[in-house]
Amino acid sequence: MTICRSIRSIIWQRRFRHSFITTPIFYANSAPHIGHLYSAVIADAAHRWEILKAPNELHQFTTGTDEHGSKIERAATSASLTPIEHCDKVTAQFRALFEAFDISYTDYIRTTEERHKRAVREFWARLSKAGHLYKGKYSGWYSVIDECFYKDSEVEKIRSLDGKESSVAKETRNPVEWVDEENYMFRLSDFKEKTKKILESTEVITPTHFKPLAIRELDACGDLSVSRDSTRLKWGIPVPDDPSQRVYVWLDALINYLTVNGFPDKMQFPAPTCQIIGKDILRFHTAYWFAFLQALNLPLPERLFVHGHWLVNNVKMSKSLGNVVDPMEIAGLLSNDGLRYFLLKQGVPTDDCNFMKLKAIELINSDLVNTIGNLLQRSTIPKLNPAQVYPIFDAKKVPSNCAQLAKELINDLGTLSNRVRTHYDELYFYRGIEILLNIVRKTNAFFQEAQPWKLSDQEEILTVLAVSYETLRITAILLSPIVPKFSAHTLSRLSIKPNEANLQEAHFRGIGCFGGKLGSEKEPFLNRIKPNN
Ligand code: MSP
Repeated sequence: MTICRSIRSIIWQRRFRHSFITTPIFYANSAPHIGHLYSAVIADAAHRWEILKAPNELHQFTTGTDEHGSKIERAATSASLTPIEHCDKVTAQFRALFEAFDISYTDYIRTTEERHKRAVREFWARLSKAGHLYKGKYSGWYSVIDECFYKDSEVEKIRSLDGKESSVAKETRNPVEWVDEENYMFRLSDFKEKTKKILESTEVITPTHFKPLAIRELDACGDLSVSRDSTRLKWGIPVPDDPSQRVYVWLDALINYLTVNGFPDKMQFPAPTCQIIGKDILRFHTAYWFAFLQALNLPLPERLFVHGHWLVNNVKMSKSLGNVVDPMEIAGLLSNDGLRYFLLKQGVPTDDCNFMKLKAIELINSDLVNTIGNLLQRSTIPKLNPAQVYPIFDAKKVPSNCAQLAKELINDLGTLSNRVRTHYDELYFYRGIEILLNIVRKTNAFFQEAQPWKLSDQEEILTVLAVSYETLRITAILLSPIVPKFSAHTLSRLSIKPNEANLQEAHFRGIGCFGGKLGSEKEPFLNRIKPNN
């Protein structure tokens, strides 16, 4: 069955080269921070990259907000709002964030929408009909902050300074409370072996670095409580035919990936091609999600891309420490594309990453302003290019002192997109970006060596400019998934039309390809950021 499904999925992939990328849906309890933006920016870059590779195919990219549960209910109460008023407010903040950072989602799902509630009810009914649910007594720990059940072995006692004892989850250090209730259990144990085989024998989890963690977490799972007593959890979707129970928020939330695909009606895609998640929610997306899908005979996602967390000056972000970085605020200093760039260049998915303002400023200044921005500014000044044209490259007119460098550059530009592609396909964006930066650095060295401002032969000057513009053009195309506005500005200055900014054009075109007038915007897109701004 599974083999048939995967063959079907491979055939589908080959035929359509579609993509369906998801972010987790974000808790609507408080305003977004840079960690949330990171998940969204990786997904957005992946989506833009898929479009660049196959512009005429179908590309779905979904995100949204996770709006049910005690955590949201409590946040609303402390803000003196009703839960839905609170969700409306936080959702508006996420949407504003995504707009500001060019997160080009194709669908935004809120779990409070009717289309989603319908999907959850239908999913539940199918689980129940197929015998995967039973009513049982759940006694154990629950953390409202994590919205997660914990076993005894996953909890420990701590003593506060005033001598009071309380219990916390070992992994997250969040408080847990003892729960004794009658609710619906899902026979997750029936799927553990199958899921384990999938995790072990496929590359569904990338980076594979996270495989052992996923397997450990799966091993620790038993049957799962999938509902909560409605006297404890009011703000949730009622269990069909049993209003005394509410659907467990993780089951509710995971189903969003089906709702956006059309479930319970005809689904547009077999399954997501890539789901982006932080390492803290791996257990929910492997042990739980894979079991739910198998229970209904639905295809699994082709890939889960897991990323580490952002710390701030090496400390975990938390409201109580007051070190949460607001992306909108910090973008006032770094610019929106600057922050996108920093997150994707500094963000190494396998590790936790460290946010330091000075480091971010340094990186943006050195890469976007000094390396790329500077090459664009110095090579387009009217003094060197009075006619303001995109010149034609003439191999016979390469100044002799930099002929070797020019040859190397032209070769490098020929293979650039393939080299970058290897890393972007893996969503190791920082590696692809480094390759791009290296070629721009090399072109700056070439420009310096050629000294076009000292040349008297106009055709030689134009040939030096042509090599520089070609580097900038190809780099800007390949950077467009990372920094869309910065790239668009560079391409517009070079007078490259949007329909020419695609992967097929991302190689050295040689003589006679362009030759049009440059764009009129002479100001740099980004100015050097001063640390004390
Ligand atoms: N609502 C659940 C997800 C349900 S998906 C069916 C949830 N929400 S969350 O708002 O807490 O987290 C959303 C995403 O943000 C997760 O991928 C999480 O890993 C990520 N991040 C939250 N804090 C983070 C950092 N400090 N750094 C990087 N990403 C982090 O979990």
